[in-house]
Amino acid sequence: MKKTTILGTGSYLPSKVLTNHDLSQILDTNDEWIVSRTGIRERRIVAEGQTCSDLAYEASLKALEDAALTPNDLDMIIVATLTPEKRLPSTACLLQDKLQAKKAAVYDIDAACSGFVYGMSIADQYIKTGAMNRILVAGTEVMSKVLNWKDRSTCILFGDGAGSAVLGPAKTEEKIILSTHLFSNGSLYKLLEMPAGGTAMEWTPDVFERGDHLVKMDGKQVFRQAIESMAEASRLALEKFHKTIDDIDLFIPHQANSRIMDAIAKRLKCPEEKIFMNVDKYGNTSGASIPIALDEAIKQGRLKKGDLLLIATFGAGFAWGSALIRW
Ligand code: COA
Repeated sequence: MKKTTILGTGSYLPSKVLTNHDLSQILDTNDEWIVSRTGIRERRIVAEGQTCSDLAYEASLKALEDAALTPNDLDMIIVATLTPEKRLPSTACLLQDKLQAKKAAVYDIDAACSGFVYGMSIADQYIKTGAMNRILVAGTEVMSKVLNWKDRSTCILFGDGAGSAVLGPAKTEEKIILSTHLFSNGSLYKLLEMPAGGTAMEWTPDVFERGDHLVKMDGKQVFRQAIESMAEASRLALEKFHKTIDDIDLFIPHQANSRIMDAIAKRLKCPEEKIFMNVDKYGNTSGASIPIALDEAIKQGRLKKGDLLLIATFGAGFAWGSALIRW
């Protein structure tokens, strides 16, 4: 069995910044409340006409450059998104066209905020078995288009952005995906959903009136589930390799809320300095959160050869998971 390595990463954030102060101009909210409850100070919003595949394209070009590869080297493109550009075709198809990745098989996966880790896990299986050689996994979201900007408890949390990674068979023992662990519990789907937009609920004026085509969330319940699930998935990943949190050099949790990350760290007894956070700058970018954080952590020199990286993810579904990577 081959081993999978991370050949390159890239991320892209739209240039338009929406601060908490900006939000306080359109909603009954304020910077102090948002920062104290979430750690978020600002988020990025797409420019007029900028789409989900546009963001993924920019991030993917950087990841390919980082990997010293061209789009024609790709055997597959997996796009993780809960804000697909269209219902048909997949956003992966649109990205394939922009990249002109002529040899790539493509598809989207829908695991909400956990989509990138799910995608990485899928790519890992293809590469380990030798079925594919070079796979681009992109997490890309235009959350600003699916938020109810009148719901102050939800719209303040999210932002737009994209992150990509190119994976391939390892020639050395560097940047190896040791394991991925995926979980779900669909019985709690109502706690975080977009009720309309699929085939279950017809598009009627009532749907738009109620905002059923937009993200609806029970924040308190999601908060609790996110902490429990990510802490448990992290513990299982560590146990599998007979490691403890002391062996971890860097921990990248899903960038949902700094209080969620703090609570997970407390449960795992993970020192603050080992946790990577950028939620203050971008908010929760859903499926893009982990690849953006990973790319920034790498570019900031937070990972050196031999380091053990733990990733934990959680999102609607609920679908959650973890990954261990030896840098
Ligand atoms: N500004 C000011 N006040 C706000 C507000 C805002 N943006 N949003 C909610 N409030 C108010 C509420 O109306 C409530 O007022 P009340 O006491 O008069 O009823 C009060 O603040 C407390 O609301 P509550 O919902 O108890 O706050 P909270 O401490 O649970 O924080 C969240 C709310 C959404 C920040 C928090 O629950 C959370 O982060 N949940 C997880 C969400 C998440 O990460 N989802 C994605 C997972 S992938």
